[in-house]
Amino acid sequence: MEIAEPDWDTLNRLRNEFLNASGNVGLYWNSITDLVQYHQYFAARIGWKWDAAIAQARQVGWGLESSTILDWGCGTGIATLRILEAFGSENVNEVVLWDHSSAATSFAQTMLLEKYPDLKVTLADNLSNLDLSNTLSLASHVLNELSLSDRESLTDLFSKSRQIFWVEPGSYDSSRLLLEQREGLRELFHPVAPCICAISCPMNLEENKNHWCHFFAKPPIVAFTESRWAQFAKMMEIDLRSLPYSFLVMDSKKIPSRSDLLNKSRLLGRPRQYKGYTRIYSCDQNGHNDYELWKREDKSLWKTIKKNKSGTLFEWTQIESGKILAGKAVEGNLD
Ligand SMILES: C[S@@+](CC[C@H](N)C(=O)[O-])C[C@H]1O[C@@H](n2cnc3c(N)ncnc32)[C@H](O)[C@@H]1O
Repeated sequence: MEIAEPDWDTLNRLRNEFLNASGNVGLYWNSITDLVQYHQYFAARIGWKWDAAIAQARQVGWGLESSTILDWGCGTGIATLRILEAFGSENVNEVVLWDHSSAATSFAQTMLLEKYPDLKVTLADNLSNLDLSNTLSLASHVLNELSLSDRESLTDLFSKSRQIFWVEPGSYDSSRLLLEQREGLRELFHPVAPCICAISCPMNLEENKNHWCHFFAKPPIVAFTESRWAQFAKMMEIDLRSLPYSFLVMDSKKIPSRSDLLNKSRLLGRPRQYKGYTRIYSCDQNGHNDYELWKREDKSLWKTIKKNKSGTLFEWTQIESGKILAGKAVEGNLD
């Protein structure tokens, strides 16, 4: 697709639609221009979040083990595009697109076929007839547009899949909605990432109600070298350096669990810096903990954490009364 000139009115209108969405939004893709503009900017940013989430899933050994992909609420198809970019299309027999906007599904189909001309890309007309037993189900940035009953139907539908990969904005509300999905799917699926454990998520406990499971993706270099991105950031008043996302990867219990996260911990959100120490909200095997790490206790660990690699896996080797005294980043961590 040729890069089109930015249309600020369209981009502003769409952005307001997304920011104000709180269930049951209805159709808002008014024209092909909407989809082109969305794909060039908002979907591209969402793609960067997908890349970061995929890197986190890969770090714990996750891979594509399904022959079909379902992209639910596909928009312009960015979720499938990023998955195929990461894992290749060779072993994918079919991509099935679903969106309540037929303009969106057609657009996504065109985008996918432009990149993968030999791929079978179909538009679903009746989701209840689909056999998802060998399917990776994708969802991206949809939850705040759905009613409670839509979200429940989506849990039921996805529970028939083999694998699930879901990316949502890193806001408190979206992350909490995704957590509801995790809990609804946990009986039949084991969480692969970002979860450290398979038990009911400790984020739901009263003591953790101020926190939420989220991470920050690193935008690619083009976000800072291409003038169109500088213009986009200025016009939309979006800080391109901050790319918060939440995500969830689950495999059906029919797939043996491979991830070995024993004694590992994942840093959620951003470490908070104070004079001489850092606070770290950590997802651990025994639950969630808000630790302190003093610079004087483990300077090298303190420096690693200060570099702020969101989502990094750690091993806390010595902890006393809520203070990390020693620890290390797990090998193979993200850039
Ligand atoms: C913010 S867009 C995200 C699109 C795409 N998944 C992405 O990440 O770029 C949300 C999409 O969900 C679709 N959608 C919203 N409510 C829906 C519903 N009840 N059923 C199917 N699709 C829906 C919209 O038409 C839109 O394409």
